[in-house]
Amino acid sequence: MEDIPVIDLKKQYESIRPELDDAIARVLAKGSFILGAEVTAFEKEFAEYCGVSHAVGVASGTEALQLALLACGVGENDEVLTTAHTAVATVSAIEATGARPVLVDIDPARYALDPNLLEKSITPRTRAIIPVHLYGCPVDMNPVIQFARKKNLFVVEDCSQAHGALYEGRKVGSLGDIAAFSFYPTKNLGAFGDGGAVVTDNAELAERVRLLRQYGWKEHYISSVKGINSRLDELQAAILRVKLRHLDDWNLRRRELANLYFELLADTELVLPTLSENSLHVFHQFVVRHPQRDALKEYLKERGIHSLIHYPMPIHLQPAYAELGYSAGSLPNTELASREVLSLPLYPELTEEQIRWVCQNVIDFFDRIAKPFFKSV
Ligand SMILES: Cc1ncc(COP(=O)(O)O)c(C=O)c1O
Repeated sequence: MEDIPVIDLKKQYESIRPELDDAIARVLAKGSFILGAEVTAFEKEFAEYCGVSHAVGVASGTEALQLALLACGVGENDEVLTTAHTAVATVSAIEATGARPVLVDIDPARYALDPNLLEKSITPRTRAIIPVHLYGCPVDMNPVIQFARKKNLFVVEDCSQAHGALYEGRKVGSLGDIAAFSFYPTKNLGAFGDGGAVVTDNAELAERVRLLRQYGWKEHYISSVKGINSRLDELQAAILRVKLRHLDDWNLRRRELANLYFELLADTELVLPTLSENSLHVFHQFVVRHPQRDALKEYLKERGIHSLIHYPMPIHLQPAYAELGYSAGSLPNTELASREVLSLPLYPELTEEQIRWVCQNVIDFFDRIAKPFFKSV
């Protein structure tokens, strides 16, 4: 069996090459490259897809979060609740607004912030909560939203890993006040470079993001507020429009392959992802857990099966964030997850045969390596 990478974007390109080549050629022929007709069309189509009234294309997922927070009025001296078990971008976006990230431990079933810990994490400075729909698994939003309403906080969803996921029949991105998406190339909906979007049902918030993404310009060259440069370009928008048409099929394929993993790994010692009846997981990653994660990763690598760790070091323990004042042991579920999680290969272009090969090797690991003592008695 050939090596199995963690993702294969060339295969995805090949699968829809004529559509993508047409879209790219259309943009090049038109000669308009920033915030033009493709971006406007993509914003309309993506808003519709998410079930909201507004989408604003921006330059990355990180800046989508930053601009969403700024639009909510978050800034200096404010606090924003989120988790340390996420891409560092979630936390760096909070800091880019001048606010302070306050990190809440996770509920290990969904790898998302534990709603039971929100009460003890807020202060009079708390302005917003960022629930992160990690790995494609929707956060249990009802308790988060109830808490936020009671305390008058904004809910800013981080949907960077969950394009198309559903919670109680509604798309993620339509559940809180405003939401951020990343279109980093490896995401379920990925551009051919950086890109992001902010989506919301709130016209006022959408308008503020529109201003902020381009120097605060209402009309050209006149800043009505202080903004930044975070624009989506036409090429990325044209590519995203093509890929958006395939997103539901790709997500379905991810779920089918995930089901095969569930079936074939059911009798192993691995902790498998949690599925909830009220939500639809889109398996951006297929994340398993085991205390011997490092040995398993190495065993698979020796057999040409590549895997990743999302994330090997919780943000509060990373050198750059020491100043936040957390120490080892302060977020126990987060810290344990970072030692045990492993993302197995999962992308729509994988074959069932490849998934079977991964599972066969996982099973071999447990037969041969993980329990040598038990095998010899
Ligand atoms: C959960 C999460 N939030 C935010 C981001 C930031 O997105 P980007 O890389 O587009 O800035 C990412 C992607 O890396 C992510 O996975």
